[in-house]
Amino acid sequence: MRLFYRSIALVLCIALSTSTSLYATSGRTPLRVENGVVASASLTASEVGVEILKQGGNAVDAAIATAFALAVTWPSAGNIGGGGFMVYHGEDGHATSFDFREKAPLAATETMYLGLDGKVVNNSNHIGMLAIGVPGTVAGLYKAHEELGSLPWADLVAPAVALARDGIPISYALYSGFQQNQSAWEQHPSSAEVFLKADGSAYELGDLWVQPDLAKTLQLIQEQGRDGFYKGENAKLLADFMRANGGVITEEDLEQYEAVEREPVRGTYRGYEIISMAPPSSGGVTMIEMLNILEGYDLAAVGHNSAQYLHLLTEAMRRAYADRAEHLGDPDFNESMPLDELLDKEYAARVRATIDPDRASVSDETQFGNAYESDETTHFSVADKDGNMVSLTYTLEFGYGSRIVAEGGGYLLNNELGDFNAVPGVTDRSGQIGTPANLVAPQKRPLSSMSPTIVAQDGKPLMAVGSPGGRTIINTTLQLILNVIDHGMNIGEAVEAGRIHHQWLPDITTFEEGFFSPDTVNIYQGMGHEMRERGRQGSAMGVYHDRENGLFLGGADSRVGDSGAAGY
Ligand code: DON
Repeated sequence: MRLFYRSIALVLCIALSTSTSLYATSGRTPLRVENGVVASASLTASEVGVEILKQGGNAVDAAIATAFALAVTWPSAGNIGGGGFMVYHGEDGHATSFDFREKAPLAATETMYLGLDGKVVNNSNHIGMLAIGVPGTVAGLYKAHEELGSLPWADLVAPAVALARDGIPISYALYSGFQQNQSAWEQHPSSAEVFLKADGSAYELGDLWVQPDLAKTLQLIQEQGRDGFYKGENAKLLADFMRANGGVITEEDLEQYEAVEREPVRGTYRGYEIISMAPPSSGGVTMIEMLNILEGYDLAAVGHNSAQYLHLLTEAMRRAYADRAEHLGDPDFNESMPLDELLDKEYAARVRATIDPDRASVSDETQFGNAYESDETTHFSVADKDGNMVSLTYTLEFGYGSRIVAEGGGYLLNNELGDFNAVPGVTDRSGQIGTPANLVAPQKRPLSSMSPTIVAQDGKPLMAVGSPGGRTIINTTLQLILNVIDHGMNIGEAVEAGRIHHQWLPDITTFEEGFFSPDTVNIYQGMGHEMRERGRQGSAMGVYHDRENGLFLGGADSRVGDSGAAGY
């Protein structure tokens, strides 16, 4: 059955391209190609990116085309109604990043989710119209194109228009995702129109899924660029939909939204350069702090996923996530974040000195808590024939975001504002952080964990990596990098290996089921750690430049159904 859907995808790809790309589905054996590679959660979207590379597009062009294609083929997280981050590193050494994180609308207030009792009303920061942030994806992709693109914008949006207009087969991943959200579709007529058949029944495996409204919106974007989304017909449609349904995003919010080109954060790890996303993502800073702490240990000798190794990782995670909770937020609203210190190797050495090599520390519950984050986002990585790389993570927050489709627009809206600290001043063990850096304010961006990262060597990009997974993203990306640098894995092995997660509070480590032996778990628990098993942690996508052999490698995590690396 799976093969059947792969072949349908392939036929679609052939239709899109003049000659077939080489491709691998996913798994421990990476794709190895000579000219360029894309690894994403949707093989069809990866193929779209490769087609752009074949047309002479660079990594940024391919990333833009892949991102639009994912908005059609991977609707749980691929989007035009959400936001995210792109990190770029050119073969010439130029590195930059684009922040297209959603913003709170102008009407937002610090206490907008609270009732008279000071508590969040009906989970309204996560569910419903007030959780929707002003989308950033189209503005971000457009800005990246203005700065670094080479092919015409319209050519990059065209494949997504075709996929939405002509339809795609319902894969098992789409089928099961739609099923899980059946009640949401039934609750919102605009969503039912997209995710249920005309007679209200569910899509079946292999059905052709056509998205005419999305095709129309993508066509506006194709023809008018950024303005096709933020002005005119779509802006009116979205603002009208908001007004009619209790939302607060207006035409003015859309008009004023700007994506920002930012300096990435930088660190080094055992001589490699780490280039990652700066705030409003917490990803880069937190990951570099952990790498700095871990650099003081001979991790290769300690052994991949040994109990001792997992202990050291946990202790680094505990400390860096505590700093994350205390200090990080939108840089446009927090001028005094101590980024230099958090990224400093001497600071890391002082933190490392507090780690007992044989015994778990205890997270100080009087200081910080944890807020709920879901597990649906998507990451993809691109390398072009010249060695330029893009690492891009974007999201709607929950799987399918708010599950609310903008009526007539055909696209899902995010529920990203749940990433703000909803209750000012209340930080407790039950799962809340109320620290000031990440409180709601008009036009502010909520703190993110998305960690698109590029590792470079001697100023040239070596690998581009990242993952979805809410707060686990930073730890997934960390372990992927350690797998390659310390443990000598190839990019396929590195994305597939089992992972753990600790985030300061709750003081529990989660282990991915099926990867760790009972002996390892026993020794680890014997050091004083509490652990729990969980299902998959993230879905990592990576590309790697094997300069010695003149090859590009793509690793697409088999943890998600439709994933695949494609290349030529
Ligand atoms: O920005 C963040 O960190 C979260 N909103 C991302 C959500 C996420 O990763 C869910 N999925 N995998």
